Amino acid sequence: MKVDAEMLDLFTRELVLCGVKPGETVVVLTADDEWAENAHAFMAAAGNLGATTFNLNVRRGQRNAVGVQGRHPLVGNALAMQTLKAAGLVIDMVGLLFSREQAEIQAAGVRILRVMEPFHVLKQMFPTEDLARRVEFAKGLLENAKQLRFTSDAGTDIVYKLGQYPVISEYGYTNEPGRWDHFPSGFSFTQGNDGEIDGTVVLQPGDILCAFKQYVQTPVTLRVEKGMVVAIEGAGMDAQLIRSYIESFHDPRAYAISHIGWGLNEKARWYQFSVSRQLPSEHVMNALAFYGNVLFSLGPNLELGGTNDTACHLDLPMRRCNLWLDDLQILREGEVVHPQMRVERHA
Ligand code: FE2
Repeated sequence: MKVDAEMLDLFTRELVLCGVKPGETVVVLTADDEWAENAHAFMAAAGNLGATTFNLNVRRGQRNAVGVQGRHPLVGNALAMQTLKAAGLVIDMVGLLFSREQAEIQAAGVRILRVMEPFHVLKQMFPTEDLARRVEFAKGLLENAKQLRFTSDAGTDIVYKLGQYPVISEYGYTNEPGRWDHFPSGFSFTQGNDGEIDGTVVLQPGDILCAFKQYVQTPVTLRVEKGMVVAIEGAGMDAQLIRSYIESFHDPRAYAISHIGWGLNEKARWYQFSVSRQLPSEHVMNALAFYGNVLFSLGPNLELGGTNDTACHLDLPMRRCNLWLDDLQILREGEVVHPQMRVERHA
């Protein structure tokens, strides 16, 4: 397969940010014929940097139904796991997120970089060292905060007690042993303490339902008690969609509040989603990482060391919110106001 010169250049720069060195092994993990062009270009880039590289291709099968996180073809594949655990860097194009297998590979000291966006998004949201600095700053704040509160004019007012769970940063590359990241990205996140998240979240038109690849059109009010959604209110279609979707999993843990954080990638655009969501290959990183969002979510907390591995995961990036860590204001109506994380120009 011929490798596009622009793609080769971008992926080489990405692997340089990941600290890929001669003699190291870079394994590109793919399923079926997905992401073949990206996979070949990453191998070419790794080869240019003097690394040993190969493609580990698995069959996706039926276990990884669309929209179901944490179920993937490495489950029960001991030889593939052994191979991945001996690599320096794994480029994950299968989607190991929220799986025990991902945690096991990281625990072996392997860096994992998830890459599941089309080339134009990788290029548009390409990471910088300044983004990494701001995301790591956010991580430090979250690690030291006892409480996160976010509100909105629409009626959102919810408090997360913090401290029980670790904080994960995503800035788009990884150069530390055992560290996972997602290319592209741009936020840090944590999880509220078990049973200590209470309040109300009001989704507004323009907020994003990532699982359905669509914008909220009609307000939805989520009542939250002790870390669980106890009521989904709203006369419009969106409330029905969310209710039916969660009910379909027949799992009470699907109502749990999941990770929380805010977006810091100034190159990401909330409206990009509307342009690109028709593409079958399009994923959601513009929505998850756009500058000044509150990334609210429902579902599992395995990624943060919790025990909830429900297959139902809803990412709900929200606009125009205010957010505080203890008494420190981070966002005001969707604008990053903290000087250490603020950029003057953003998309
Ligand atoms: Fe999520």
